Amino acid sequence: MSQKQLRIALRNCGVINPEKIEDYLARDGYQALGTVLTTLSPEAAIEIIKKSGLRGRGGGGFSTGLKWEITRKVKADQKYVVCNADEGDPGAFMDRSVLEGDPHSVIEAMAINAYCTGANKGLVYIRAEYPMAIDRLLTALKHAKEYGFLGENILGTDFDFDIEIRYGAGAFVCGEETALIHSMEGLRGEPTVKPPFPSESGYQGKPTNVNNVETYANIPVIINKGWEWFSRIGTEKSKGTKVFALAGKINNVGLIEVPMGTTLREVIYDIGGGMQDGAEFKAVQTGGPSGGCLTTKHLDTPIDYDNLLEAGSMMGSGGMIVMDSNNCMVSIAKFYLEFTVEESCGKCSPCRIGNKRLYELLEKITQGNGTMEDLDKLRNLSSVIKDTSLCGLGQTSPNPVLSTMENFYEEYLEHVTFKKCRSSICKSLMTYIVDEEKCIGCTLCARNCPVNAITGERKQAHYIDPEKCIKCGACMEKCKFSAIFTN
Ligand SMILES: Cc1cc2nc3c(=O)[nH]c(=O)nc-3n(C[C@H](O)[C@H](O)[C@H](O)COP(=O)(O)O)c2cc1C
Ligand code: SF4
Ligand code: SF4
Repeated sequence: MSQKQLRIALRNCGVINPEKIEDYLARDGYQALGTVLTTLSPEAAIEIIKKSGLRGRGGGGFSTGLKWEITRKVKADQKYVVCNADEGDPGAFMDRSVLEGDPHSVIEAMAINAYCTGANKGLVYIRAEYPMAIDRLLTALKHAKEYGFLGENILGTDFDFDIEIRYGAGAFVCGEETALIHSMEGLRGEPTVKPPFPSESGYQGKPTNVNNVETYANIPVIINKGWEWFSRIGTEKSKGTKVFALAGKINNVGLIEVPMGTTLREVIYDIGGGMQDGAEFKAVQTGGPSGGCLTTKHLDTPIDYDNLLEAGSMMGSGGMIVMDSNNCMVSIAKFYLEFTVEESCGKCSPCRIGNKRLYELLEKITQGNGTMEDLDKLRNLSSVIKDTSLCGLGQTSPNPVLSTMENFYEEYLEHVTFKKCRSSICKSLMTYIVDEEKCIGCTLCARNCPVNAITGERKQAHYIDPEKCIKCGACMEKCKFSAIFTN
């Protein structure tokens, strides 16, 4: 592990056997629950979480202690605590790893949350595509009950608490807390307008505290080591660490956990081992489909909630994809829009129709039919969708378009005015050409061209008719002499 990393949420992952509660106990497991139940009032425990500065790791970054306080203050005969383990961002697997590697830390934190907020029932909403995480969670729940950490009169006190699992079908929008609650109630997984927030009216209309897996994983350590210890890590407004799923064109991909305030450069070059094959860094996408693409000028930005927002992206749940010059930024924006169009629940028209139109505009541009007017339309439509969508999905879906337009506008211009894709990703904009010097006239390309666009005598340089060529790339793939190139 790189010196730049610090494991708080992942402290036990890969260290303990997640199927043995004894392993968790040997690393101070359930000590925090004991401390809270036997020595602290709910208000005092909430104060510790508030002072720690912990903010929700599910994307929004809302103060965890404040959310607990709001839920505590609502009067009700029944309250719930929920663990959001939907994890729908493409390429993200932070929460899955915590649940697979350290399920007891989440159970312990949920029990602490329930004690603090006045709930006695917990629900974990987890996507059904996570079978190992589900198995380990079920085993951990069984052991926690056997040891008296769940059930009635926990640790000899009058606090009762139990946890059930609810399975999600893998819809991205079901990670949004109101949609998640509807899905758990057996209704369509569609968001509703906030307020009311789940803390006031959530599952079955009762006050419900929803927190993310990684947020929970931080709780026992904060109680054990103190809010002062935790709040010393990170930046002024973002405390502690963040887990990221590093992916893309870097040498070391996988999960990392770094203190807030670590720069993108440190993550990419020191921890990620730099760019693959010594390629030049071009962009880093943070925040998944709700985030944006940052560029070289942001490499020394300390990562925290506010800095990423200011730079035009966001923390999101922790996806981080690094790109080099072979990535076309217009196509990247199109990729995320395609995901959003697929995942929009369709309830409100700005998101349902607006994102589809955004996608079509990007498709038009990558096919070489875009105009300058389309670039204006992209900007205007993006801001309308952001301002008028009902939930966070639509409110953030134009971010990949806006951030790539902001940071890579010249690539949009090249696509529109010169009909060129500098990364050779947009096939419609490429012209296939035979290099006469390299071509030995083997005829392999001509025999594989589906539209007979290639002519030439055996042992003579061949020629591609650009009018006939449908840009399928088969010739380039087949040529053994690298004699076909694109421009
Ligand atoms: C479209 C969308 C998807 C979301 N997906 C997730 C998710 O997979 N996991 C998660 O914890 N939060 C997700 N959220 C954020 C939740 O609505 C909620 O803010 C979060 O679970 C609260 O927990 P936290 O305060 O601990 O971050 C999503 C939000 C939106 C708008
Ligand atoms: S913004 Fe999109 S996902 Fe959210 S409610 Fe509207 S249609 Fe559904
Ligand atoms: S790209 Fe496809 S269509 Fe064009 S010349 Fe090569 S094989 Fe033929």
